[in-house]
Amino acid sequence: LRLGILVSGGGSNLQSIIDKAEAGYFPAEVVVVISSKQDVYALERAKKHNIPTAVVLPKNYKTREEYEDELIKILNSYNVDLVILAGYIRVLSPHFVRAFQGKIMNIHPSLIPAFCGEGFYGEKVHKAVLDYGVKLTGVTVHFVDEGADTGPIILQRAVPVKDDDTVETLAARVLEEEHRIYPEAIKLFAEGRLETNGRRVKIISKED
Ligand code: GRF
Repeated sequence: LRLGILVSGGGSNLQSIIDKAEAGYFPAEVVVVISSKQDVYALERAKKHNIPTAVVLPKNYKTREEYEDELIKILNSYNVDLVILAGYIRVLSPHFVRAFQGKIMNIHPSLIPAFCGEGFYGEKVHKAVLDYGVKLTGVTVHFVDEGADTGPIILQRAVPVKDDDTVETLAARVLEEEHRIYPEAIKLFAEGRLETNGRRVKIISKED
């Protein structure tokens, strides 16, 4: 399975996916990394592993469709089978989603539908979690549909909130779980073990 990864920042999720691919954890390889920002560390991580990279800056395009057409063109030129959003901060329009229907995954650092949607990204999520005072937060991997963090959920895992947590300590604990759960979701997809019926994603067990 050929993975195309969209990034915007540090790329720690990208790194965990690269490491798992190289370890043969799943039958998939990272064939291209596209960043929406210049000079982000995610690009360095890709280069270190000889993975082709591209920087496509939204500000260079008159419309969101033209920006997304450039992404689609690059992803198709590498024959990408699954698009992985990894710390990618833009919301993709129906134009892009339709081009890769059912083949776009995203990771969100909360238990969707809590603490998600427009404006809930990065540390803002963890701040809201601490302000609310929930005892459990977590990570969600989901298919991307035309909303923000609204697509069918693939995997979720709870992460405890500690009484003395700060945004930083909580973010770090959640990020550790992200690095485990994302490769698990990719492995299930690569092994053809995900069956989506409407909003429900069923995991077909190995014995089936
Ligand atoms: C983090 O907030 C993570 O929770 C979310 O995107 C941000 C950066 O991830 N998925 P990464 O280190 O760039 O993968």
